[in-house]
Amino acid sequence: MENKIILITGSNSGIGKATAMALAEMGAHIVMVSRDPEKGEIAREEVSRISRNINVDLMLCNLADMADIRRFAGEFISRYPRLDVLINNAGIYTNNRMETADGFEYQFGVNYLGQFLLTQQLLDLLKKSAPSRIINVTSMAHSYGKINFTDLQQNIKYSGLAAYTQSKLAMVLFTYELSRRLSGTRVTVNCLHPGFVATRFGVDRKNNKPNRFIRLGQPFAINAEAGAATSVYLATSPEVENISGKYFSKRKEKASSRSSYDLAVAERLWNLSIGLTS
Ligand SMILES: NC(=O)c1ccc[n+]([C@@H]2O[C@H](COP(=O)([O-])OP(=O)(O)OC[C@H]3O[C@@H](n4cnc5c(N)ncnc54)[C@H](OP(=O)(O)O)[C@@H]3O)[C@@H](O)[C@H]2O)c1
Repeated sequence: MENKIILITGSNSGIGKATAMALAEMGAHIVMVSRDPEKGEIAREEVSRISRNINVDLMLCNLADMADIRRFAGEFISRYPRLDVLINNAGIYTNNRMETADGFEYQFGVNYLGQFLLTQQLLDLLKKSAPSRIINVTSMAHSYGKINFTDLQQNIKYSGLAAYTQSKLAMVLFTYELSRRLSGTRVTVNCLHPGFVATRFGVDRKNNKPNRFIRLGQPFAINAEAGAATSVYLATSPEVENISGKYFSKRKEKASSRSSYDLAVAERLWNLSIGLTS
């Protein structure tokens, strides 16, 4: 992986940090993205020190703010000559309805729309760097999701679970639609379920309390290193160099939910997302 530049969102914690560590140990140039300078620098220093890789950088971006995503992408493009792998890993679960800086429901805004915009902003650089790869971290929870076009932002009725599963289904639909649109470019895009992983996922960032449902499952969860395995596989393995538009779990291609293959929903969501991010 030497000479490969890899950008990982949400890499100050959990699966993203473990992904950064594994790829840094393979010699890649890692750009860790965090919204918090302090947490980001602590993680960057740890990854660089343990992997003995001096090419581990930190950049700041709040994925809940479209202007910040545009600023970040611009800075990335002026700082780095290429981008070999983009890993859209950041994600959040919250029971409380919150909004992004642009007024989108928070989980839809961060887990999907922010990373949709980030990918669009970096697409020309990814094409110039081809062969290159985009990896979207979704969840098997996408199969409980529905794209609620009549109340996409859950203004009328909010449920944390419905918002999360909608955002993760959106990520799968986006993966498949982008793959169709990237045909012939040698830029691949795949998505994955990392497993049930013991991280800070579902921990309320304000009061530090874990979500009750997630806490109950913690004894059965795998560790972050095991949770990063499929992301690392998709970022590095020659086995998947020509594979695009697929869903993976445990490093194997799997079928995603029936609704994730709906071409009309994928195209409608794409067009809507272009409109919302313009
Ligand atoms: N853990 C699981 O069992 C599981 C299962 C299926 C899918 N996933 C998915 O795996 C991915 C990684 O989650 P994880 O388990 O590693 O959880 P985590 O430890 O909570 O990590 C999530 C990362 O996303 C970042 N993030 C959240 N909101 C952000 C924002 N507005 N701007 C920028 N970064 C933001 C977090 O930053 P802060 O530290 O600043 O909050 C953190 O670095 C997520 O997409 C999650 O949905 C996890």
